[in-house]
Formats: sequence, structure tokens, C-alpha cells
Amino acid sequence: RNALSLWTTRTVLRAHSLFGDPLAQVISPSSAVPLVDAYRRVRLAGPMARSRLGAWATARYSVVSQLLRDPRFGVVAFAGDSRGFVPQPRVGGDALVHPINDSFLSLDPPRHTRLRRLVAPWFTPRALRARTDRIEGVVRRRLDALDTSQPVDLMADFATSVPVEVICDLLGVPRPEHERFVAWGQVLATALDGLFELRELDRLHATMVEMEAFFRELTDFRRRNPGDDVVSELVRSSGEDDQVTAHDLLATSELLLVAGFETTVNLIGNGVLALLTHREARERLVADPGLAENAVEEVLRHDSPVQFTARVAKEDLVFHGARLRRGEPVLVLLSGANRDPSVFPDPDRFDVDRANARDHLSFSGGVHYCLGAGLARLEGAVAVRELFTRFPRLELAGRPRPRATKLIHGVRDLPVRCHEPA
Ligand code: HEM
Repeated sequence: RNALSLWTTRTVLRAHSLFGDPLAQVISPSSAVPLVDAYRRVRLAGPMARSRLGAWATARYSVVSQLLRDPRFGVVAFAGDSRGFVPQPRVGGDALVHPINDSFLSLDPPRHTRLRRLVAPWFTPRALRARTDRIEGVVRRRLDALDTSQPVDLMADFATSVPVEVICDLLGVPRPEHERFVAWGQVLATALDGLFELRELDRLHATMVEMEAFFRELTDFRRRNPGDDVVSELVRSSGEDDQVTAHDLLATSELLLVAGFETTVNLIGNGVLALLTHREARERLVADPGLAENAVEEVLRHDSPVQFTARVAKEDLVFHGARLRRGEPVLVLLSGANRDPSVFPDPDRFDVDRANARDHLSFSGGVHYCLGAGLARLEGAVAVRELFTRFPRLELAGRPRPRATKLIHGVRDLPVRCHEPA
């Protein structure tokens, strides 16, 4: 059991034990300090900030974007090392497939490049254009299904349902299985922050066992019955490339679920909340639904669903005056970079007309730049556009509760009254 640990973990746990200030405030689940204040302090501390006990972090826009593109930094410092996951033991057998640890998110080039290339064709602008009607259909069906006679929780009934249907459609998962994906996605998203209780570890382990069994079955099914979906394509290309193993195939499919689900749920949730709490922005969107794309960029900048990532030095190096030893991690505060006033004037203001909102770093950068960025943007824009077009008088019906997680930023619930137009 002790061997179960998680990806941000090496960073998160180290941060808990090592970081004196102000990083503990950024990451500690119990911290009450607003994140933007903690990010500001890190940014003011220098291009590369160092805690009293020696851990590195950066929240400056130019430094973050440069670091993410610098090949001297990677996600793997030593052979066999990865994001801090320890292999998940299975009773009497080999290790469980881990969606983060074993997938290309946790690999450096050249292996990263080979595996990413297998699924990249599904995320090109052209492929996304071809899926737009289906995504609009998913969003409209979900809006039709809302019981508008009473307050509804838009997190449970809208923000969660849309991404899960979209990702299941992409992976070729049959509809009756979608609910299981919702449950798995939630367990995995909570786990990304690091788990501190045995009960949570048990839940994660059970989820990984179930998920792997599910994807094994799906892969076998698609081998016999290929369809127009990512899993079928992965099966086909792994047949042509003998360096792609069955393990890679499972890890890649699972990665798409993990990476594409809770992130997008919170993009939609944060977007709806921002528009409900910024009256003028919402009125502008209702009058001009074409504003949805830029509004979503501003949501990503102002309220990024993924707050930070981490890199390790792959060699001894000097970066912006910081001397790092091979293997030393750096906490890369994407959200802190998004509030850098030298790039985004008046950065704490939510402004749907912000001209350079799209320059945010919420999708990271360099070789690990989010593969699903285009899909997330599309889902986010369709969701807020359709929601506010359908219910222009939508209003909050209670105070949303923030999520307890730090890596994933969002709310647990979003109670609203829809007010059907007469
Ligand atoms: C990678 C954010 C939606 C698939 C990443 C990374 C970030 C991110 C920050 C890079 C992590 C790092 O550099 O260490 C987001 C956000 C999303 C979102 C904020 C929604 C608002 C999606 C969707 C998919 C997806 C919808 C696909 C269905 C991936 C994949 C990677 C990735 C496959 C790994 C890329 C690589 O390692 O080469 N995402 N993501 N993401 N994302 Fe997303």
C-alpha cells in the first residue's frame, strides 16, 4: 500500500515536508491563503524562487514558458524514473497500468514523440471541425434534459456530463458505461493532488484495477470489431509498429480519459461561474454569442483548471541564475504565469475582451503542450454559448463550494436557477 503514490506527488509531498515558504501555501490542501497571493509572492521572489529549504518554483511568464521549452528539463531525470509514481503492485502479478506514470505524459522524447504521434491525428483542427456537430448535439441534449422547474446543480448535470460523453465518443466507449467513467474520473482527479489517507489509496487502487480491466476488454473488442474511434486506431497502429506494446495502448487510452475529463469539467464550471458573477461579461455574451471563444480563453487564463505542473533537471545546469543538480524538481506555476502583470495588464480582472487572453499557459508548453487543447476550447465555447443562449436569465441559486484540490481548480457544485424564457 505504501507503494501507492501519485504524480504530483514527488512535488507535492516534497513540498509538504520541505517547502518553508511560500510554496507550502500554494500546495498545501489545508492552506487558506488565496492562490493568487501565493503566486504573486513566488513571482516577486525572483525568476526562479527558492524556498528556505531549497525547493525551486517559478511563476514568471517568460521563465515558465522558456523552462517548458528547454530540453535540459524533462519529466524523467534518470532511466526508469518518472513523475514520482511508484509502480502499482498487483497481488501476485505485474504492475498495474498507470494512466499518468506509464503514458507519454511522463515520457521524454524520443519515446514521447512516437506515442503522442499515434493519437495526434484525432486532435487536429480538421478532425475537430468534423466533430463539432456531435459536440453541439451532446451539449444541446444535456440542456434539454435539465429539469428547469427547480434549481439544478450545473456541475453534476451539465459540466460533468458533456466532457464525459465527448471523451467516451472519441474512445468508442458504449453509452451504458459512461457513468463508470464519471466515477473513475472523479477518483483520479482527487488523487492528482496526492493522497494522504489509506481509504483514498484503496479507492484509487480499486479504480485503477477496474479501469484497466475495462480498457483491456475494450481493446480486445476493438481488435475484433474496429470502429471509427481512438482505441480502434491505437489497436491498428500498434499492429504496425512493434515498438508499441499492449501496455502503451492501455496507458494511452487511460491517459486520454484522465487528461480530458476533469480538466474540461472545470473549464466549463469555472466559465459558467465567471460569467454568472461578472454581469457585464455575461450580458455581452448573451448579446453576442460569438464572444464565447474569447470568453473561454479568459476563463482559462483567469481560472485555469490545471494550476501547475513540474519538471526535473535532466543534467546539472544553471537557469536564470539558479543552479540545479540533475534530478532536482521545479514547480512550474502555470496559473501564476497567467497572472503576470508584465504580460496581462491588470491580471486579476476578468475581461472577456482581453486581446491576448489566448497567450495563457494553462495548456502548458513545449513538447507536452496539451494535446486536447483544441478539443477543450471547442467544448468550453460550445457549452457556454449554448447555455447562455438557451437560458439568458440564468442565475446562481446558492453559493458554490470550492473544490478541496489544489492542482485542479474549480467548484464542487454550481446551484443555479435557469428561468426558462417565456
Ligand atoms: C497535457 C491541461 C483538456 C489531453 C496537458 C498539460 C496540461 C493540460 C497543463 C501538460 C502537463 C505538463 O506539461 O506537464 C488541460 C486543460 C484542459 C485539458 C486545462 C481543459 C480545459 C484536455 C483534453 C484532452 C487532453 C480534452 C484529450 C481528450 C492531454 C494529453 C496530454 C495533456 C494527451 C499529454 C500531452 C503530452 O504529454 O504530450 N493538458 N488539458 N487534455 N492533455 Fe490536456
